[in-house]
This record gives sequence, C-alpha cells and structure tokens, in this order.
Amino acid sequence: MIRQLGLCTAVAAFAPLAFGTPARAEGDLVRGAQAARACMACHSFTPGRHLTGPSLAGVWGRKAGTADGFARYSDALKRSELVWDKRNLDAWLKNPAALVPGNAMGFPGIADTHTRADLVAYLEAVSSGRVTAPDRGLPNLKEVDTASRVTAIRYCGDAYRLTTADRQTYTFWEFNLRFKTDGSADGPPAGKPVLIGTGMQGDRAAVVFARPEEISSFIQRQCS
Ligand code: HEC
Repeated sequence: MIRQLGLCTAVAAFAPLAFGTPARAEGDLVRGAQAARACMACHSFTPGRHLTGPSLAGVWGRKAGTADGFARYSDALKRSELVWDKRNLDAWLKNPAALVPGNAMGFPGIADTHTRADLVAYLEAVSSGRVTAPDRGLPNLKEVDTASRVTAIRYCGDAYRLTTADRQTYTFWEFNLRFKTDGSADGPPAGKPVLIGTGMQGDRAAVVFARPEEISSFIQRQCS
C-alpha cells in the first residue's frame, strides 16, 4: 500500500531548493517558496498537472481562468477578465473573495503584506523559469509495486476484503474505504486499480480506478 503524500511530504521537498538569482528588493524568493507551501495542497507548478486548483505553471501574465486543460473554473473567475500581474495577484492572495466574489478557491487569503510580496515574487520567478519549483510529488499510479496493485475486491457484510498483487489481503469496514478515479496520464492503467493508505492508523484507505465504470464491475459480492 502506498501512503498518500500530503502537505508534510511537500514541505520536506522544499529543503534542497537552490535559487540561481539573489532575492529581489520587492520580494524574497526563499520566503516566497516557504509561503507557497500553503498553496501546494491544491496547486502544482508542473505544467498541465491540475489538482483541486489549476496548475500555476506560467500563471504570470496569463488571463484568469485560462490554464489549458483545467475544466473546473468557476464562472466568476472566467468572467473576471483579470490578467495575473503583480497587482492582481497581490489582491487575489490578500482576499480572493473580495477580488472575485463567487470564486471557487477555498482559501481565506494572506493578511501580511510582506508575505504576499514574497509569494508574488516567487510566482513570477517560477513562471519565468528563474526558479524551479518542487513537484507536488503525487505518485504516478502507472508505476506502482505489486503491494499496491489491487487484484480483487470482495464485499461481504459491512466489509471489503482487498487482495493485492503480492497476495496480501486487507480488510476494511465499508465506511473507511473510498473509491476514487484518476483519469489523468498519471492515473492507474485500465482494470488495474491501486490501493492508497490514507489513515494514520492504517484503518482507512482509498482504491483508485482508471474510470468510474470499472468500480462496480470490479467488486464481487462474496463471503468466502
Ligand atoms: C483549498 C485549495 C486551494 C488553496 C489552498 C489555494 N488555491 Fe489557488 N485555486 C484553487 C481553486 C479551486 C482555484 C480555481 C478558482 C476558481 O475557478 O474560481 C484556484 C485559482 C488560483 C489562481 C488563478 C489561476 C488561474 O488560472 O486563473 C491563482 C493565481 C491561485 N489560485 C493561486 C494560489 C496561491 C498562490 C495559493 C497559496 C497562497 C493558493 N492559490 C491556494 C484552490 C486553492
């Protein structure tokens, strides 16, 4: 079972960052990278890698609501006609709901002016390629080991029993197992779902399928 990579892992990945250029007067890139941790739960800086929010690769100078391949923008943001320059990014990060009422970014904003300036400088530096941001580090589910590859799911009573390709069996209370899909290029191969541990105690997990249609056909009602 692979462990879900959360914020803590993303934070650790920041440590070896190297900056090619010194911090500029209007914003400190090292502090900006630290502030960007708050964004990494929902954004990646990898082009085309959309999470809860759109990829922030190349966001500087881009029109709001236009990242290629992100289909979940709110109408409010799409209609805003904003271009992401220094002033608009600062206003967005200060109070997203005030700049674009009805937007879908579940983030309250950053009150501190200096932290915002650092973050905006960092967004510019990453967009222009002067600084390389760490990847969000989501696993590629096409390349998992046998311990994470689910070969069978049986349902009996209030339990799911999962068998993995290394012949291990895991039992979960039905309320603690989630079924998810990942149709992206990094999602699992068709018919080969992946087990991801999500709970600290090992009692919760998720099975990620390539397509929603696979889910019920994969699960067998069987008590033996
Ligand atoms: C809880 C998840 C979440 C967090 C945390 C978050 N965002 Fe977002 N962000 C979103 C979503 C969702 C959208 C799309 C909003 C919409 O369509 O209204 C978005 C949109 C954006 C956009 C507009 C992108 C575009 O293509 O127009 C920018 C810029 C942005 N976020 C920057 C940030 C930064 C910088 C941080 C960290 C300080 C951050 N976000 C934190 C979810 C989040």
